[in-house]
Amino acid sequence: MKIAVLAGDGIGPEITEQAARVLEALAADGLSLELRAAPVGGTAYDATGEPLPSKTVALCEQADAILFGAIGGPRYDKLERSKRPEQALLRLRKHFDLFANLRPAVVYPELANASTLKPEVVAGLDLLILRELTSDIYFGQPRGIHTRDNGEREGFDTMRYTEGEIRRIAHVGFATARKRSKRLCSIDKSNVLETTQLWRDVVAEVGRGYPDVELTHMLVDNAAMQLVRNPKQFDVMLCGNMFGDILSDEASMLTGSIGMLPSASLNADGFGLYEPIHGSAPDIAGRDQANPLATILSAAMMLRYSLNQDAAATRVEQAVRTVLAQGYRTADIAEPGARTVGTREMGDAVIAALRD
Ligand code: IPM
Ligand code: MG
Repeated sequence: MKIAVLAGDGIGPEITEQAARVLEALAADGLSLELRAAPVGGTAYDATGEPLPSKTVALCEQADAILFGAIGGPRYDKLERSKRPEQALLRLRKHFDLFANLRPAVVYPELANASTLKPEVVAGLDLLILRELTSDIYFGQPRGIHTRDNGEREGFDTMRYTEGEIRRIAHVGFATARKRSKRLCSIDKSNVLETTQLWRDVVAEVGRGYPDVELTHMLVDNAAMQLVRNPKQFDVMLCGNMFGDILSDEASMLTGSIGMLPSASLNADGFGLYEPIHGSAPDIAGRDQANPLATILSAAMMLRYSLNQDAAATRVEQAVRTVLAQGYRTADIAEPGARTVGTREMGDAVIAALRD
């Protein structure tokens, strides 16, 4: 099984290194894995003038899955948009049609105190944000900044969804809910936006084929409020691209740290890109401070969803639970005064726990 490793910028190389070491430890135990690295984001721009070089795309095309670190940094924010690091990620999502983005938010018992919310609000939380990833206002045309006749500049983007795009993510949503607690909450802003009225209508139509799944609809502003009021009311939250982007960052803080949340971005064939949902954290890059667990958990999702290695995935997830129970904490999840470990030492601990 070939894995393309795209480490990217900022803390990307440090965190993917730890996930790669975990995968190599599994390979040493007999799993046939081959990891190949390629540049992406600002690092790739510096080397080639392009945030997503064609060689990187070619490597991904030959791979069975992509392990992705993080991209972006203040140095690149002034570049014209097509050269910015974020474009690499958006183009990969589009190129491989990775329309289904799974973002689980799980509160580990040991970390219930790490959240800014009261432990009783978040303890035991296990929800999944399913985000559509290849359409919506992210990709809608036309878009731009133009100058009006009166000389004033005007910015515009287009929110749009076709029925087919809504239908395919809705099917993933219902199928996923079926494997969990059979509850799906679809998020929209149908009281104001036409696109999301269509979203609500099509999700309801698709839902008729899944009578065993309880479907509810919620307006996105209310959902943002309910997520901090009583997050345990949710199981699977089905979101369009932009609402899912925002709500998944919010949900990450329920778990204590954005450094804990993995993600999978899948196409219809099960090919996927796996990445932590956090960014490149330029402020702590290169200091061995970043939490590698979101990336290690992303590698576990890769084993499960693209490589069909359920047992190995469970082993990695179990190892993460073990190191948390053993008290290992990176700075982002440490209680005040607790001893913290660095990125590499956390990787070491996970690898040691794998062997237990
Ligand atoms: C995410 C990120 C990306 C997004 C950025 C980096 C383009 O915020 O994966 O949530 O907006 O989708
Ligand atoms: Mg985001």
